[in-house]
Amino acid sequence: MKNKQSNSSYTVTAALPYANGPIHLGHVSGVYLPADIYVRYLRMKKKDVLFLCGSDEHGAAITLRAKKEGVTPKQIVDKYHGIIKKSFSDLGISFDVFHRTSEESHHKTAQEFFEKLWKDGKFIEKKSEQYFDQKHQQFLADRYITGTCPKCQTDGAYGDQCESCGADLSPMDLISPTSTLSGEKPVLKETKHWYLPMDRHEEWLREWVRDGVVDGEQFHNPKEWRNQVIGQCLSWIDGGLRPRAMTRDLDWGVKVPIENAEGKVLYVWLDAPIGYISATKHWAEQNNKDWKKYWCKKEANNRRLIHFIGKDNIVFHAIIFPILLKDHGEFILPYNVPSSEFLNLEGDKFSTSKNWAVWLHEYLSSYPDKEDELRYVLTAIAPESKDAEFTWKEYQARVNNELVAIFGNFINRTVVLINKYYDGIAPKRHELTEKDNELIDSLNLAKEKIAKNLELYRIREAQLEAMNIARAGNKYLAEQEPWKVIKTDEQRVETVLSLSLQVCATLSIAFYPFLPKTALRIQKLLGLNECYWFEEKSVCVEAGALIEKPEMLFKKIEDDFVDKERERLKLSSK
Ligand code: 2FM
Ligand code: ZN
Repeated sequence: MKNKQSNSSYTVTAALPYANGPIHLGHVSGVYLPADIYVRYLRMKKKDVLFLCGSDEHGAAITLRAKKEGVTPKQIVDKYHGIIKKSFSDLGISFDVFHRTSEESHHKTAQEFFEKLWKDGKFIEKKSEQYFDQKHQQFLADRYITGTCPKCQTDGAYGDQCESCGADLSPMDLISPTSTLSGEKPVLKETKHWYLPMDRHEEWLREWVRDGVVDGEQFHNPKEWRNQVIGQCLSWIDGGLRPRAMTRDLDWGVKVPIENAEGKVLYVWLDAPIGYISATKHWAEQNNKDWKKYWCKKEANNRRLIHFIGKDNIVFHAIIFPILLKDHGEFILPYNVPSSEFLNLEGDKFSTSKNWAVWLHEYLSSYPDKEDELRYVLTAIAPESKDAEFTWKEYQARVNNELVAIFGNFINRTVVLINKYYDGIAPKRHELTEKDNELIDSLNLAKEKIAKNLELYRIREAQLEAMNIARAGNKYLAEQEPWKVIKTDEQRVETVLSLSLQVCATLSIAFYPFLPKTALRIQKLLGLNECYWFEEKSVCVEAGALIEKPEMLFKKIEDDFVDKERERLKLSSK
């Protein structure tokens, strides 16, 4: 294998959200939170990692929204870029850079990329007849045109993709096409575009996706790829890839940088992933680094490029972008594309148009001290391998039965007892019993399981293992009953509480990727300052260390909270 795990470094991206609306919990649970947890873990392992994101500010998603709100596309992207960026930061999503595709530096990077591919003969210039809206004097591609999907017969498929069956479409495939601008039947008109001949790439793509091999060299381990990603890619490739236009007739976007291309912009799905590269350049400039170290074959020695995405983005990240990167020649290919399924909300799909959503910025402004509760619940229900559902009832149950009753309760009991028996001074450890050794073994095993799951992008399972540490701690206290033993064997209680402190310390490290704020609060309670993933030795609170006064980590969620949130959802939906 080319990439040896022990000395790998990482370029991790999270799909650039369209700046046409705020972020909802479905986006967070599937993409941004798992990416953040993975990156926090890597940083704790002292890995060299760069975590990139930014807003996707071109394409029909933006221009159609601007039309709907009666403002300019620029006003739309300025407004939502600000909202999105702040909400990520308030949730503790720790991007190294959150860039924008409307930045001049991005336009330049995307244009240079396109120009190189054009000069190298990687595109085909072709005239064809395309749908045109006479009323609005505009060609119709992507979300500007809708119709019935020829594959699954569902109405409302777009000119690029059917959201119902995931089929890759072109406007000419749609049955009964209609302009989304005027609602009228479009006419055909000739226009010129630059196409990526994807059909030429089928063979190497198949081998790369299925076996991880390109030109006889191993680039990734396909066993680490999610089944649904491999399955979707192979079904696309086996169904035959078709040339795809990389340009559009629009005035909002990155201008096509070649002669005789007036009125043309780059296709947003060419422009957006290059946004990862321009974000890197922006960060590198500000931090005095060489951007090529993060992307280019020659400089990016043993670096893994990992794209966290939702399932509707698989084809773009696992087929189209790799073709572009390989065609360019200088770049590494993605090492993995952990893609999530969808999260539903209270029995229905998240829907921006129906306002059936819990918006991240609204949650955070209503509950500014509850970001870790949200991180916990969204990870516990994350749609990693199948669609999942968020309900306020489950949010309440997970907070009350897991965060309050298991995690918070264990930390609190330990800290209370140490304050009560020893005035907050960590006790000494004496001879260990079999049960004590079992507890220590279970901590070591949990650490290994968490790490292994995180390294394989099984974030949900990893968090479950972290919670099992608190479960083990509660079980230990319940069995050892220090509050009874204190009457007969004071030394034994010292040992039991010293070990309980070790469990607390372990929790403060194991939970750091998932619940960073809570983990740091526990470390402060224990007087610790451990920001690295477990070293060989166990993490301990030394005898004699001062433990702070107890404080509640999580608050119970009452029924009226659930009623209020459900009501709010119903009232605000259209
Ligand atoms: O689906 C989306 O929301 C796109 N804006 C994702 C772009 S990801 C990448 F290519 F930048
Ligand atoms: Zn379909």
